[in-house]
Amino acid sequence: MKKLLIILPLLILLSCNQDLKNPKDAVIAAPISSIDPHSFSEPALAKVTHLDLKLNVNFDQKKLNGEATWTIQQNGDPGEIIFDTNGLNIEKVLLDDETKNAFYALGDEEKFLGKPLSIQILANTKKIHIFYSTSKDAEALQWLNPQQTAGKKLPFLFTQSEAILARTWIPCQDSPSIRFTYDADITVPKELLPLMSAVNPQEKNQTGTYHFIQTHPIPSYLMALAVGDIAFKAIDKRTGVYTEPVMLNKVTYEFADMGKMVNTAEKLYGDYRWGRYDILVLPPSFPFGGMENPMLTFATPTVIAGDRSLVSLVAHELAHSWSGNLVTNATWNDFWLNEGFTDYFERRIVEELYGKEEAKMQEVLGYNSLKALVTEMGETNPDTRLKADYTDRNPDDAVSDIAYEKGYFFLKHIENIVGREKFDAFLNNYFSENAFKSMTIDQFLEELNTKLIKGDEGLKKQINSYAWVYQPGLPKDFKSPISAEFSKIDSLQKIWQSANNPKGLSKEINSTNEKLYFINTLPNQLSIDKMNALDQEFNFTDSHNAEIQGAWYIQAVKSNYQKAYPAMKEFLINVGRRKFLMPIYKELSKTPEGKKLAQGIYQEARPNYHSVAYNSIDALLK
Ligand code: BES
Ligand code: ZN
Repeated sequence: MKKLLIILPLLILLSCNQDLKNPKDAVIAAPISSIDPHSFSEPALAKVTHLDLKLNVNFDQKKLNGEATWTIQQNGDPGEIIFDTNGLNIEKVLLDDETKNAFYALGDEEKFLGKPLSIQILANTKKIHIFYSTSKDAEALQWLNPQQTAGKKLPFLFTQSEAILARTWIPCQDSPSIRFTYDADITVPKELLPLMSAVNPQEKNQTGTYHFIQTHPIPSYLMALAVGDIAFKAIDKRTGVYTEPVMLNKVTYEFADMGKMVNTAEKLYGDYRWGRYDILVLPPSFPFGGMENPMLTFATPTVIAGDRSLVSLVAHELAHSWSGNLVTNATWNDFWLNEGFTDYFERRIVEELYGKEEAKMQEVLGYNSLKALVTEMGETNPDTRLKADYTDRNPDDAVSDIAYEKGYFFLKHIENIVGREKFDAFLNNYFSENAFKSMTIDQFLEELNTKLIKGDEGLKKQINSYAWVYQPGLPKDFKSPISAEFSKIDSLQKIWQSANNPKGLSKEINSTNEKLYFINTLPNQLSIDKMNALDQEFNFTDSHNAEIQGAWYIQAVKSNYQKAYPAMKEFLINVGRRKFLMPIYKELSKTPEGKKLAQGIYQEARPNYHSVAYNSIDALLK
């Protein structure tokens, strides 16, 4: 590192404002020593503490441009500070009140990671102004034309920064272990409203410029912006929904329990620390179910089923206000600390609000998909470990039921052993003591040892963290959860198949969870007659519930039930949620004809997808 500091000014003098030919070979020769393999930044030398962001949102050019002013903290006199960038056009850099350009260099591009931006600083440098614009294909951003929105009249923009895409729209130290507060001034066309992961406006103003404040320190992956024809409606004093005006009533109905959810979460694990909790329901191309942007969860419209049956997603994103946003995975290799904890917390909220059986059903659905995933990946596959290693890979690949469900079942296993009371006390303490900090898996295990196991060898053996965290597959003593409701469906499943007649079944299998379980436990290939009979009884093909559609279309492909294909095609074209798209395209790809069909549909659908979705599907269908 020291070598870098001496040579860097020279290099920069030679080529200020240009991409260096190969500065990494010359100066950043050794792998960067940061603990985060997915960030170039070196927070031990100099790190950011606050961001002042000024951006203009240009829909014609599909471009953001403006200035990111970072307040920084130096350790000693490092001489430089390093940011992450990916596809950004850096126009100039100024230090503090200087008008003279500062020296900076962009390093070589690395796959997934983009380029390091290193800026030469003085010992007393406090602020760095980076003037920049985004590129057309900035991966975090999705620019929607009016046709891709619910209202069909005005364009829309939204960001998705997790895991390492914040650097495609803001030059930042893009590691979840580095936190900062922020202020932003965002200028948009006057007919549109911008929203951020911050204190938000509830209506449009005359000027088109809006000021945002986030007073709590957050990591960069929680930076978020959405701009569109958006309206607001309150649910209660501190919760509310934002969405396009034509969706507002539906969304308000669906999320009526939001206020209660926050109250319930607080009773479980301590105060909600972020002020307001609102949800923004986006157009259908949003690639995830939800994203826990602080103060303002971003959500897919595919959870608006009309009967409130998919609202556990809100519980999940809300739970991240503790697990993830307060106590944050230190790197993307620690990802299960965000998602496994959140799944656990989500099911606790669901249990409080909707009862034990509801939570149990969700647990069993999770268990079954985890089992299927481990079988598919192979029990000895190193990626089935909770402590996985995504160095040199896209951390996006870590988004799987290993982090979510294996993580969940590890925590549930601890709860089963020590009892709820003790485990809740431990978790309460975990969230309050580590609030606004980051956490590695090993730090968590250390905390488990010192605060829960406390030298009890028997307990340590029973919990067996080693097997859960470091070993692949599922631990031998892993007990499968049982749901009474689902057990009933197991018998019904047998009865109708032997009688060859599902008539009347929909009266007994009526909730969304039950239908999902029923579809997921159908034999792999059913005759067209049976598929037809099921469709007559349940009307699955034309369901308006995206979870059911997702599950049923997979069954349709497996059984070559082509009657469902037009509806499936429409679903694939309209919906951009990767969780639904991938399994359907995957199933289609298993036969040559299916793959052809998939490729045809994909050609039409791809322009509607966010990069997070099309990057995965490109790889699948290539
Ligand atoms: N934080 C995740 C989404 C995410 C993870 C985005 C990793 C990018 C990289 C979010 O909280 C989430 O888990 N969403 C789920 C919802 C669910 C489990 C209820 C989803 O999108 O399906
Ligand atoms: Zn999550």
